Amino acid sequence: MITKIMKADEPGVVESAAEVIRAGGLVAIPTETVYGLGADGLNESAVAKIFEAKGRPQDNPLILHISDASQLESFCEDVPPVAYELAEQFWPGPLTLVLKCRDNVPKRTTAGLNTVAIRCPDNTITRAIISAAGVPIAAPSGNLSGRPSPTTAQHMIEDMSGRIDLIVDGGSCGIGVESTILDLTVSPPRLLRPGGMPLESLEKIVGHVAVDEALLRPLSAGERPKAPGMKYRHYAPKAPVTVLTGSADKTAVYIAQHAPLGAGVICFDDFSNAFPGRVIQTIGRSGDLLSNAQRVFDALRAFDSTDVMEIYAQCPDETGLGLAVANRLKKAAGFHVISL
Ligand code: TXA
Ligand code: MG
Repeated sequence: MITKIMKADEPGVVESAAEVIRAGGLVAIPTETVYGLGADGLNESAVAKIFEAKGRPQDNPLILHISDASQLESFCEDVPPVAYELAEQFWPGPLTLVLKCRDNVPKRTTAGLNTVAIRCPDNTITRAIISAAGVPIAAPSGNLSGRPSPTTAQHMIEDMSGRIDLIVDGGSCGIGVESTILDLTVSPPRLLRPGGMPLESLEKIVGHVAVDEALLRPLSAGERPKAPGMKYRHYAPKAPVTVLTGSADKTAVYIAQHAPLGAGVICFDDFSNAFPGRVIQTIGRSGDLLSNAQRVFDALRAFDSTDVMEIYAQCPDETGLGLAVANRLKKAAGFHVISL
């Protein structure tokens, strides 16, 4: 298959993408978080193609993307009032809600669960594509399964060229980490994945949020997290990663002392000269959590085209967007974390 690439501002892009979706094909769509690999979320065979293109395990459900909060009712039932409050406040935006699903959502999309993850992305072109297609778009992150999520069209080309019909190039993603996933089928609501919407912002509306165990530590054999995707090795470059937490000054000293020459280092811009002889990827200044989020997946990915044998990473504080960035780094490291 030849993968067509269209710029998001090219004439006809919305209609072309919508046509591919309606015909049961696959389109890479830009969102504010990461690129998604989209198909008609109500079409079983189209959804099956997503799993095939990514090499994704069948038991890992997909997020349904809608173009307007009013569509929530079409695919979810027993929607609690707080879901509407969150949608009103944060959609379009980087928040995914897990709700009880209606029978019209295929089992392939939900991986057989009786719940569905749903969000309205903050990207005008992608919402226009959803509207024009007339169906919700099921889309996981567009990476090959296990690889860091794509935040540019170039990343999409690397992973999906020849496997999908169309890539819509919307430039770099503004947030750079995936949406926050909140399960509203339990009380208190449960955070299944930290992401682009800070936990602190959600708690202002829903009160206390329980944090899923799978976010905090590696799972033991046979343990089943609530978000099936959280059990898989993720985001990982080929070389093993060690994450350093603690003050940026301390972690820099540790890395300078322990990282061998030729090792990879993911560091804040302020420390880019602190590791001579190592292969550096910077993720924005220390404390600039949005830059850290925008850069983290590209930094992890970049090492795959080098011959580094191991990677050391400075980790931001776990407040605001930092919780999501730290989670992605720790998952990439298989929770190999040294706290200083
Ligand atoms: O920002 C994002 O959320 C991106 C963009 C493309 O929207 N999408 C994304 O999808 O990150 P994906 O498939 O890479 O991650 C979705 C996660 C998986 O861990 C999956 O297991 C979980 O959401 N999930 C999906 N449906 C669920 C459900 N009904 N209950 C619990 N977890 C669910
Ligand atoms: Mg993903």
